[in-house]
Amino acid sequence: MPRTLITSALPYINGIKHLGNLVGSQLPADVHARYLRARGHEVMFICATDEHGTPAELAAAKAGEPVADYCARLWGEQKALADGFRLSFDHFGRSSSPENRALTQHFAGRLADAGLIAEVMERQVYSPADGRFLPDRYIEGTCPNCGYPRARGDQCENCTKQLDPTDLIEPRSAISGSTDLEVRETKHLYLRQSALKGELRDWIVSKTDWPVLSTSIALKWLDDGEGLQDRGITRDLDWGVPVRRGTEPWPGMEGKVFYVWFDAPIEYIAATAEWAHANGLPESAWRRWWREDEGAADVRYVQFMGKDNVPFHTLSFPATILGSGEPWKLVDYIKSFNYLNYDGGKFSTSQGRGVFMDQALAILPSDYWRWWLLSNVPESGDANFTWESFQAGVNKDLADVLGNFVSRVTKFAAARFGSTVPEGGEWGSLEVEAAESVANGIVAYQAAMDAIQLRRAAQELRQLWVTGNEYLQSAAPWTAVKTDPERAATIIRFAFDLIALYAALSEPFIPDAAAAMRKALGLDAAPWPEDPAAALGRLPAGQPFEVPPVLFAKLDDATRAGLEARFAGAA
Ligand code: MF3
Ligand code: ZN
Repeated sequence: MPRTLITSALPYINGIKHLGNLVGSQLPADVHARYLRARGHEVMFICATDEHGTPAELAAAKAGEPVADYCARLWGEQKALADGFRLSFDHFGRSSSPENRALTQHFAGRLADAGLIAEVMERQVYSPADGRFLPDRYIEGTCPNCGYPRARGDQCENCTKQLDPTDLIEPRSAISGSTDLEVRETKHLYLRQSALKGELRDWIVSKTDWPVLSTSIALKWLDDGEGLQDRGITRDLDWGVPVRRGTEPWPGMEGKVFYVWFDAPIEYIAATAEWAHANGLPESAWRRWWREDEGAADVRYVQFMGKDNVPFHTLSFPATILGSGEPWKLVDYIKSFNYLNYDGGKFSTSQGRGVFMDQALAILPSDYWRWWLLSNVPESGDANFTWESFQAGVNKDLADVLGNFVSRVTKFAAARFGSTVPEGGEWGSLEVEAAESVANGIVAYQAAMDAIQLRRAAQELRQLWVTGNEYLQSAAPWTAVKTDPERAATIIRFAFDLIALYAALSEPFIPDAAAAMRKALGLDAAPWPEDPAAALGRLPAGQPFEVPPVLFAKLDDATRAGLEARFAGAA
């Protein structure tokens, strides 16, 4: 059985994510996981919250909660929303877990043994008023690049330039607002990733099948300007993985923690260990996914992420893995995404602009969102959410095409043939033609799914639904039944076959509707049509069925206008 390890970029803990975050990694990863499971792969699908760093500390302070409590609470909320969107993780972990602490310290120790860690005296901003150093987002000021007045110490949100806290003009503490700041010396660990530049470059160049978005960003960081920079991997913070050299203390680094971007990707591995421990399984159960010497050599590892995460996954994390000198699994394929915009602008947490995961589920069930987001996934460029486009996707694709087909077939059958699938007779030319077009459609759909081209896959799936509607329209059982009930029964049985097929094929995109279709047909499972040419004609006559509740309700204009106004945000 082929084995596939799938990870989605880990959402930050500091709040509920918006639909742009969801479609940028977790949702497409879920489609891939569901698809491969249906095709008989053994899948390990991992996600977790990314809990360390200044964003978590600042959000907790704002909420007036101890950071550990805040993270535990937000993990619960994010987990509930992931369940609400039917994200089928095998485990949704936490980067603050004991497993991640141990593994992060382990990797740091290995890197140090390999001579890939340098101890560097750094000059950092210190705030006497706060009694602490102010790394990353703990400091704000004017961007030296674009003049934006609220730039943070790690990055300017306005022009996206990566910054050092000491670059900021008129800096102030994000905690107290104090401008009485000084520069003090403090020792930090640097990962000498420049020493691995050649190895990283060879590895990336060998990935000729990756999306250009993934490789081009990696190569840009490798070659631009001074090229790959060594990177500080520790911080003067309380919240994080304490710096240790493996299981030993690290002299001179007492009271410091690893930088969030060092420990976060290691959580992919640690979350798999969390999964094993949560299920009472031995260490070998997770190691066979991650250690080439313990069974992972034949695992295919696919990562999903937004484009802003690509440098960390193509350079920094692989540097950690390669530098460890141990046979940990490197990623085989990186699927990266552009951004989803909201009505022509950015989603904005601070301005309440756009739709967040909790709000979305309060408006409509997850399948409506999954379908629109996935059929508009920002694959080849940025995508744009508008309520008009969302309404069209729901009303045309889901309600008019798929929902209407299921409803017409089951209602007509119930009225004319009782509560079981009728026997009917031999297929006529319409059935033979439709079956052929369906077989071709399945092949095209699978090709898109195998290539993780989800927009194309959604189109192919929709086309399969359209084929069913067109077939029903030309076969017209409501006319046939008047003169030839046997012919009408043949048509209806064929249409039921299509519903069973749709239940299988649609599951990765709209799992709840797929379950409703299976339930209507009294099926426990809808197996994948491994032989597309024999995809139809599998449903036995006499199979009891029910008319399901409306699969998808239409979104009317007044409701749409109301939602548009409600989510416009403070202008
Ligand atoms: N939390 C990061 C973000 O939202 C992603 C971390 S991915 C990981 O951009 F691999 F580092 F975990
Ligand atoms: Zn700027």
